[in-house]
Amino acid sequence: MAQSLTTFAYLIASVLFILALRGLSHPTTSRRGNLYGMVGMGIAIVATLLRPGMEFSGIVIVLAGLVIGGGIGTYLASRIQMTSLPQLVAAFHSLVGLAAVFVAAAAFYNPESFGIGHAGAIHGGSLVEMSLGVAIGAITFSGSVIAFAKLQALMSGAPITFKGQHWLNLGIGILLVVLVIAFVATGSGVLFWLIAIVALALGFLLIIPIGGADMPVVVSMLNSYSGWAAAGIGFTLQNLLLVVTGALVGASGAILSYIMCKGMNRSIFNVLLGGFGAEAGGAAKADGSGQPARPVKSGSPEDAAYIMRNAGKIIIVPGYGMAVAQAQQVLREMGDLLKKEGAEVSYAIHPVAGRMPGHMNVLLAEANVPYEEVHELEEINPEFAEADVAFVIGANDVTNPAAKTDKSSAIYGMPILDVEKAKTVFFIKRGMASGYAGVENELFFRDNTMMLFGDAKKVTQQIVQALQK
Ligand code: TAP
Repeated sequence: MAQSLTTFAYLIASVLFILALRGLSHPTTSRRGNLYGMVGMGIAIVATLLRPGMEFSGIVIVLAGLVIGGGIGTYLASRIQMTSLPQLVAAFHSLVGLAAVFVAAAAFYNPESFGIGHAGAIHGGSLVEMSLGVAIGAITFSGSVIAFAKLQALMSGAPITFKGQHWLNLGIGILLVVLVIAFVATGSGVLFWLIAIVALALGFLLIIPIGGADMPVVVSMLNSYSGWAAAGIGFTLQNLLLVVTGALVGASGAILSYIMCKGMNRSIFNVLLGGFGAEAGGAAKADGSGQPARPVKSGSPEDAAYIMRNAGKIIIVPGYGMAVAQAQQVLREMGDLLKKEGAEVSYAIHPVAGRMPGHMNVLLAEANVPYEEVHELEEINPEFAEADVAFVIGANDVTNPAAKTDKSSAIYGMPILDVEKAKTVFFIKRGMASGYAGVENELFFRDNTMMLFGDAKKVTQQIVQALQK
């Protein structure tokens, strides 16, 4: 009876997790989605603590873990800057990977408590699950640590490459498969730890050749791996909820990576084999290539306010710089003032604007920008030709027409927002630096472009002041 109650609670939690993912797929439902996820996790924890056979000491250990882990997580999450979320996620994934390794080790050394056989005579199926859990967990751990170090600038974001790298990785991958087979055949403790060590090395080697610009995709891939590692361990622990949750995380992480790659028009293999986006915000030709500086037209916030006051249709294009400056609130104020002046204001979101999926949507939602004013790339692109103003705030790569015309460009093939079709294009940025992909933006030098140099928040504040006069 008690067992079926636990199973029932796990079933409810699984359904809530699925509803959570569904809710998170759209800004209007994302808060509800988060709530479903939290309630599902609450039910899962309570059901696990009350499950038949759970000893009091076990409950105390789980609660202690929750307090310590939950405390550290809450502290970190409350202090982290929005722009640093990708590295926080990477750091958390590394712990999921490590947990998978430890659970596998616990099951290996204490099979009786897991009901998977006896020391030296563990069931074959459990050895398979255990070895997959430890291998994927260890790859996730070391890979996530490198992703964290690159994103946090603790090590260079540039790809670290050497001759024969892919062959070496392939060789280590094959060695890992051989070790797993040998471990399943023999159940040897030495082989268990050899799998862990080789997988750690593989995680490290797989991530070092990947450039900083591709790290968000990598973090999402590692998220997916951590899900599969958890699902593998779920089989070992015979915990259906862990299997379902792990599979949900694994599948959604893989889908997210696919969406990001599609947004950049690159194949997942191209990303995972490394080499793109060498240095974050790297060498803008306009800055230091030795080429003669080309003239740009720059204006003041008052100029921008004047032009926008007389505009009928304004499309705002936010990018990474808006997130850095935290300009979303004042941007919404500017939008409200312009609407009062009679302008039609909308926001154009590129799928990879910023540094993580949905980065811009989250910031605009935080500033209470109405959802119906926020449009995806395919939807808004035909509208630029009719717009009087494209107001590009801290975005760069996602507007760069080189993606359409320059085959040698690192961003060639990426769909872009057609801002240049608007009558006037404002670029709010601090200087002439390139964006994340390190590619110069030809639009800065066009006749219909006006650069508004300065911090995105400060410049927008000045425009708001000018509009209020
Ligand atoms: P970027 O091309 O990186 O351009 C951002 C611009 O913001 C920079 O040129 C910078 O110029 C400016 N900026 C920085 N701080 C600022 C501040 N405080 N005030 C005003 N401007 C500031 O950004 P984007 O257009 O959003 O494109 C995103 C890039 O990230 C793409 O290359 C994309 O492929 C890559 N990426 C994104 C994702 C996801 S999931 N979003 C994943 C992987 C890669 P200044 O220094 O001159 O100010």
